[in-house]
Amino acid sequence: MAKRIGILTSGGDAPGMNAAIRAATLVGRSQGAEMFGIERGYRGLLDDSVVPLMPADVARILREGGTILGSARCKEFHRREVRDGARANLAKRGIDGLIVIGGNGSLTGAMKLADPEELGDQPLAIAGVPASIDNDLALTGLSIGVDTAMNTIVEACDKIADTATAHDRTFIVEVMGRDCGYLAMTAAIAVGADLALFPESGRSEDAIVDQIVDTVLTVRSRPGRTRRVIVIKAEGVAIAVDRLKAQVDLRLRDKLPDADASGIETRVTVLGHVVRGGRPSAFDRLLGSRLANVAVRAVLADTTGKMAAWLPPVELAPDVAVRCAADPYCWLVDLTAVLAETDRLLAGHSPLARWRAGAFDDIEPALRL
Ligand code: F6P
Repeated sequence: MAKRIGILTSGGDAPGMNAAIRAATLVGRSQGAEMFGIERGYRGLLDDSVVPLMPADVARILREGGTILGSARCKEFHRREVRDGARANLAKRGIDGLIVIGGNGSLTGAMKLADPEELGDQPLAIAGVPASIDNDLALTGLSIGVDTAMNTIVEACDKIADTATAHDRTFIVEVMGRDCGYLAMTAAIAVGADLALFPESGRSEDAIVDQIVDTVLTVRSRPGRTRRVIVIKAEGVAIAVDRLKAQVDLRLRDKLPDADASGIETRVTVLGHVVRGGRPSAFDRLLGSRLANVAVRAVLADTTGKMAAWLPPVELAPDVAVRCAADPYCWLVDLTAVLAETDRLLAGHSPLARWRAGAFDDIEPALRL
């Protein structure tokens, strides 16, 4: 019997989700499956908000940001009885395959939905596609949306650098990333920032203020014209930017004679949700397409509980991950292993988390003051 496969996008939207929806729809249909869009993530599964997906529905979405299916965060999905309701709606429609496109929370929901103990004899194969601008999912080199978000940050910081240079100012630019500093670290390298602040460093508020002040004074002591300072701060560094600015100004006044301190101006910019929007980059279109291709083929083959992953940055044991025949750049990784390793990554305990925390300094030694 032909498969009936649902697709949902969940959690924070990420540029490139539409590319994944498009590829899953087209590949699934080319293999004889009926494809359905589930609207507003797990919420649509609960409300039975399901629409057929035809090639014409996805023909022109590749270049669009956001997600045509809509997205939501559905906190109640961690309750067993709520998941039972979702499974009943899937069963009613004969949907026996599900592609979940989203981040950590969304894939946790997917794994619980497909838990064999909860499923009983209901046929349901689930595959995850990693999509989150934060790049906080483990066992995939990149998630969908990261590349576009990074390009947005770089474009914004290039503009900020122009005005910062004109006025010899210090800018603290806050970027999204929830608890993960990946966007701040990598954008800092791409922008040529003077300092990156990220939660993985575990620095105290005092130490962070010192870091900024030292950076400002060092930059201003260098010969030459450039006295502007760009500091990229991850939102996961739990100090509000206005408070940080006030502390920096105070510390500068402590360190310098009044006249000198008043000549140093600090400004803050919070990029916020701007970082999540916009047309997906070419790479995100490609990544969304390739990962979704692999995920839908896994579901078609009745493989369940896996996430399509991109170039895993660590050696993966054969019982955790297999390289895909359909695309040798993609892997199918065990979802349980993904989520366990993600916990270690977010807690800063995994080798990858430690490497990421040091990578900025290693790659940009000139920035070490
Ligand atoms: O997870 C993606 C993300 O954009 C995070 O970087 C950010 O902390 C969060 O979502 C914001 O969520 P919301 O859009 O629900 O405010």
